[in-house]
Amino acid sequence: MEDLSALEKLLKSGEFLQSLQMERKTADLVFDSRTLKAIYELVSRYRVDYIDYPISSGKESIVFKAYLNGKAVALKIYKMSTLRFSNIWKYIDGDYRFSKEHLTRSSLVYLWARKEFTNLSECRRYRINAPKPIAFHKNLLMMSYLGTKSRGAPMLKDADVDFGKTFEGIMDSVKRLYGQAKLVHADLSEYNVLIYRAKPYLLDMAQSVSREHPAADFFLERDVKNICNFFRKKGVECNWEDALREIRQSGNSGKA
Ligand SMILES: Nc1ncnc2c1ncn2[C@@H]1O[C@H](COP(=O)(O)OP(=O)(O)OP(=O)(O)O)[C@@H](O)[C@H]1O
Ligand SMILES: [Mg+2]
Repeated sequence: MEDLSALEKLLKSGEFLQSLQMERKTADLVFDSRTLKAIYELVSRYRVDYIDYPISSGKESIVFKAYLNGKAVALKIYKMSTLRFSNIWKYIDGDYRFSKEHLTRSSLVYLWARKEFTNLSECRRYRINAPKPIAFHKNLLMMSYLGTKSRGAPMLKDADVDFGKTFEGIMDSVKRLYGQAKLVHADLSEYNVLIYRAKPYLLDMAQSVSREHPAADFFLERDVKNICNFFRKKGVECNWEDALREIRQSGNSGKA
């Protein structure tokens, strides 16, 4: 990437905007000057080869496929304009790992990216299947890419898998997350699990909180209910109370 204006041109090109289903006006909001500068800095610092196509464009973030040293990576860009303070504050306040900071609006978004990086690092440490975090910078997170050459891995909700095995895989991950990493995902559902190489990978972990968070029990129960609801519809027997008990027990023994 030669310079900032080349990057701006690329991100706001007709081809990119079309695949993002984004109008030029929205693009100006999403790729504001701070975000463009941050992308440019990250791309230069880590010598990212190039930014490929957008994998997903949601309310709060856009995820691109990019290449680093010839390998595919995922670049998640948190939108500075739409990340809502009121929605995310409860996942920061109460998490002793992050709560003492003096926050402005932009630093809150940066903290959000750092929080996801930290949580993914914990997953790595405890061998929980999740993208491998590579770097964070301001409102950007770079992580390993899950998918094939031509398309990103499907969400659990769209995947054609052995649901019994997948449920066990997710339970194993949640137990490790709770029992060993001492975290609660806090937004677990069929939308935030990708199926990669026939295995479930946890995704989207900025809101994940420490087990010590005052609402951790509530978040854990909600996660388990979401997962059980989904798998029950797929014919897998799942009683959320039993599943929750199993996860809590794994937490008490300190092992999953
Ligand atoms: N490491 C990755 N490899 C491949 N695809 C990814 C990766 N990370 C995210 N994605 C894709 O991007 C989508 C959105 O990612 P994620 O769930 O982390 O963001 P989000 O916060 O839910 O975004 P939004 O709420 O704005 O939709 C995922 O459903 C997935 O399709
Ligand atoms: Mg998500």
